Amino acid sequence: MLWGSRFDKAPDELFARFQNSFHFDWRLYDADVRGSIAYSKALARVGILTDAEASEIERGLLVVRDEFAAGEFEAKPGDEDIHTAVERRLHELIGPPAHKLHTGRSRNDQVATDMRLYVRDAIARADAAVRELQVALVEQAEKYPHALVPGYTHVRRAQPVLWAHYLLSFFWMLARDRERFADAAKRVAVMPLGAGALAGNPFGVDRDFLARELGFARPSENSLDAVSDRDFIAEYLFAASLLQLHLSRLAEDFVFYSAPEFGFIALDDAYTTGSSIMPQKKNPDSMELVRGKTGRVIGDLNTLLIVLKGAPSSYDKDFQEDKEPLFDAADTLEMTLGVVTGVIRTMRVNVETMRAALDEGMLATDLAEYLVRKGLPFRQAHHVVGGLVKLAEARGAKNSGGKFSSGKFSDLSLDEFRGASELFDEDVFVVLDYDASVKARAVFGGTAPAAVAEQLKLARKGLDAAKRG
Ligand code: ARG
Repeated sequence: MLWGSRFDKAPDELFARFQNSFHFDWRLYDADVRGSIAYSKALARVGILTDAEASEIERGLLVVRDEFAAGEFEAKPGDEDIHTAVERRLHELIGPPAHKLHTGRSRNDQVATDMRLYVRDAIARADAAVRELQVALVEQAEKYPHALVPGYTHVRRAQPVLWAHYLLSFFWMLARDRERFADAAKRVAVMPLGAGALAGNPFGVDRDFLARELGFARPSENSLDAVSDRDFIAEYLFAASLLQLHLSRLAEDFVFYSAPEFGFIALDDAYTTGSSIMPQKKNPDSMELVRGKTGRVIGDLNTLLIVLKGAPSSYDKDFQEDKEPLFDAADTLEMTLGVVTGVIRTMRVNVETMRAALDEGMLATDLAEYLVRKGLPFRQAHHVVGGLVKLAEARGAKNSGGKFSSGKFSDLSLDEFRGASELFDEDVFVVLDYDASVKARAVFGGTAPAAVAEQLKLARKGLDAAKRG
């Protein structure tokens, strides 16, 4: 035990289980060992440890780390948290110098440092995984540069777009997610060690040295804030939540797009499951779970915010509850990213079915724009085309013997067009073309093939820049 001499009793057994965190915070072992090695060096520099003792401590800590990494670390009943466990084991391994390591340090600045090291690594892993997913999207976009798909709003066919344009819409969401992680990383890069319990280190340890050793940008400016600050975890969890949410929306689309009623894509067998009763079923469980697990990650963010909201300033044991949500979110996010990347890489795309799902109603805006080009104000043009939609629908219903039908502009004669507006001419039928509709949207960021080619170039460039950085 790291404390206890001023107590007459050991903790109640239930309370001990309640407050122990080793069963989850053992995952900080690598960060804890790194932090302690740096701290032992800082202690040697101010003469609290001899160089020989510091080397002994380093050697011992590396053994402890190896034991954890190999899954061979043996926990003992008194190991209340990772810090206690590491120090206990270090003492078994190297004897007396182990008991000097905690000089001037508190578990408060220690755990704050460990958590920052952990989050830093988690951000690096998430960033690399998001980049992989971006690569998969770009590669799929490049596979079918001319394929058209219905673009939807309100899950109603709206206007035709390039399939590549649709896929790349997710690329840019992910680009923002990576920016958010990179931005959060700047605030993670502040080092608490040397803050002590709350008031600062009395032995003059060189905090700039510690920051350099541990790869932080600078030491924290205020020891009270240093042991109190968990903002960086909240920021990670928010960035993770928003990223999960983007993946969830993609998953939602893909559940529909892979349904036989749509048939735009087929998910690979490796990412689908069967039914225990209905032999024909192939279910998109991978995508459904991406949606479901998003709730978990958002819940993790909520958990932390609620833990923090009532905590008095400086350190409080409440903060121990920051770990499980962080670990859970990081595990969930990393798994989710791997699965989504796999789904994108292996999906089959049915270009013909996507095209066949376009309907002429999706060209109504193009018709109105045709009239605008002939001089009609847009609001009037919208009104005229609305009348034509009604007419085409009535025609469609009649042609199908009164059954429901959406009707087609191409079923109307030029006279009927001209009945709606004198501005219509033979060339109106040229407008009734999906490829022409897409091609017209050639602004930067639009869905025209030329604009999408430019977009792809930017995406590729963004990937390379991020790799260099
Ligand atoms: N397990 C604790 C945590 O995660 C470590 C810090 C404990 N500090 C203390 N003064 N009890 O927050």
